[in-house]
Amino acid sequence: MKLPNIKILEEHNKLLRMTSKEATFPLSNQELRLIDDMITYLTMSQIKETQQKYNLRAGWGLSAVQVGLLKRIFVIVEEVEPGSFKNYIVINPKILSHSEEKIYVGEGEGCLSVNRFTEGIVPRYARITVSAFDIDGNPYTLRVREDVAIAFQHEIDHLNGILFIDRIDKKNPFKGKDTMREI
Ligand code: NI
Repeated sequence: MKLPNIKILEEHNKLLRMTSKEATFPLSNQELRLIDDMITYLTMSQIKETQQKYNLRAGWGLSAVQVGLLKRIFVIVEEVEPGSFKNYIVINPKILSHSEEKIYVGEGEGCLSVNRFTEGIVPRYARITVSAFDIDGNPYTLRVREDVAIAFQHEIDHLNGILFIDRIDKKNPFKGKDTMREI
C-alpha cells in the first residue's frame, strides 16, 4: 500500500471552523479520489507495520474538511477483527434520532487534526440513526452504536466546524461523569 498524498489540517486552521456544504452528485473525480485516499490513509494508520513505517497516528475517521474540501463528506474505517476493516462512506448525513443515553470515551476522544494531549469528557449519544447518501448518490439509513456512534458524531461535528475539544467543559473537564456511561 502506498501512503496517499494528503495533508491533514491542524487545529488552528480556519477551514476547520467553517460549515461544509452539501455534496452534489455525481461526485467529481477529485472528490472520489479524496474519499479513496482518506480510507487508505486511515487503514494504513491502523495497521501496525504501516503505522510505524510512516510514523502515523491511528485514526478512525476523517472528514473532507480536514483535508481541505468543504463538502459534507466523511469516512470511517473500523477494524472489525484483526486485519479486517469495514469502511463507512457518509455523504450529506442527518441525525434522524438518538438515544437518551449518553456515553463518553474514558481515555479521551482524539482527532487527527488535534496534535496535543487533551483530557475531559466529550458527551455523545450511545446510539444514533443517520440518513446519508452513498458514493453513487443512493440514500440509506443506518443505526450505529457505541464507538461507531461516537465516531459518527465526531465527524458530523467536523462538517459543522466543531472540534471535540469544544465539547469539553472548560472549568470542569469531567463534568457530568456520573450521568454518562464510560466506554
Ligand atoms: Ni476529528
